[in-house]
Amino acid sequence: MTNNAKKKLFIKTWGCQMNSYDSSRMADILRPLGYGEVDGPEDADMIILNTCHIREKATDKVFSEIGRLKKHKDKKEAEGGKMLMAVAGCVAQAEGDFILQRAPVIDMIFGPQTYHELPEMVLKANGNERVVNTDFPVISKFDQMPDEQQQGAAAFLSIQEGCDKFCTFCVVPYTRGSEYSRTPEGIIQEAHRLVDNGAKEITLLGQNVNAFHGEDKAGNTWGLGRLIEAVAEIDGVKQIRYTTSHPRDVDEELIRAHGDVKKLMPFLHLPVQSGSDKMLKAMNRKHDREFFIDVCNKLRAARSDLVFSSDFIVGFPGETDQDHEDTMQLIRDIGFASAYSFKYSARPGTPAANMTNLVREDVKQARLVELQNLVAEQYLEFNKKTVGTVQPILFERKGRHDGQLQGRTQFYQAINVPANERLIGEIVDVTVTQATANALIGEIKMVNAA
Ligand code: 5AD
Ligand code: SF4
Repeated sequence: MTNNAKKKLFIKTWGCQMNSYDSSRMADILRPLGYGEVDGPEDADMIILNTCHIREKATDKVFSEIGRLKKHKDKKEAEGGKMLMAVAGCVAQAEGDFILQRAPVIDMIFGPQTYHELPEMVLKANGNERVVNTDFPVISKFDQMPDEQQQGAAAFLSIQEGCDKFCTFCVVPYTRGSEYSRTPEGIIQEAHRLVDNGAKEITLLGQNVNAFHGEDKAGNTWGLGRLIEAVAEIDGVKQIRYTTSHPRDVDEELIRAHGDVKKLMPFLHLPVQSGSDKMLKAMNRKHDREFFIDVCNKLRAARSDLVFSSDFIVGFPGETDQDHEDTMQLIRDIGFASAYSFKYSARPGTPAANMTNLVREDVKQARLVELQNLVAEQYLEFNKKTVGTVQPILFERKGRHDGQLQGRTQFYQAINVPANERLIGEIVDVTVTQATANALIGEIKMVNAA
């Protein structure tokens, strides 16, 4: 295999930002092997299904996708070609052997901890060996991966993996393993490289990112707050975000960083799942409602314009109308500007899957709609409040309409602005002129000198 033998790689990604990031890292690793990413499965030389196990029927969806894609493989092979098909990500980790048995068409199955071994896996699969690689190796994948190659102005940097929290509904501790943090030196080095490649914003990523506890060469352990301060010292970094965090791991140092580090954006995704103490306990979230409110108040005391978003699960076993109302009230009290919300679904192998006091599907559905309507109202209200203000916007890409660019405000609102393409990658002052339910529209005020 040589670099100039251009092969087509199609990656289909389910799930969260973490998974999208993983997909781009897989593409980075496969690029030196001659694989270039394409938008569709037709005539691909390799298809990777990068799966997410966190929500309902993930395995079923993967099998039906395999069924759909098989015809592309059959066609290619009928024409004398070869197509490798792989299942990666959390479903692969959890259900590897099952997939191996039930889907003979799949050549490679590998979990999230093994991406750096992709070149060896491809070699074996090309030699007609079926590969299953779902171990949790002791050494980390992070330090063996090639540098980011195609990264825009808003870049992601993975600093932590795994989770030790064991919320009763969640598969992450089983599929991603226990918490592991990269070294501060390694992270800062990578941040420099991202900036050299044009990044202006860096989002620090991890399943439980504020559980970060990276050890430096001198043997000192850094928390996320300290790491943010160090990343902010890099000149080319203009904006910093982090996701996803847990309320219990918001420590004093991190709160201080929200006050002191101007580059840390005033938007925080802080999942709470429920506003009911009874549900929080059943979910093993390790905190109650009052603790969460207290954390938000402390963060707002450090940075008064901080805007919160969250994750919610409705219809967890045993959830009553009153529990749901407690969640609705918390959404009003905190004034969440946005949220991801989900109907509870049992994940096999998790403690909640054995719970019996299930909530009826129609009740779950009604609660979900009610919750989403409230959040949408609050989002629109928040969006409207920004009309007339001037916001620094990092333009990330072309907009949906010709002559428009798309970016985000510091509060993570999507915004479309008529602007010249050469401003992609720049931070520009924009006057917000209109607000809709999902996005803002603006006009350029003036171009920053920077
Ligand atoms: N059912 C419904 N939602 C879930 N989430 C995680 N596990 C489940 C489940 N079993 C949601 C949580 C989490 C988000 C990433 O996905 O809200 O924060
Ligand atoms: Fe899952 Fe809870 Fe860990 Fe989040 S904190 S990844 S919900 S176990």
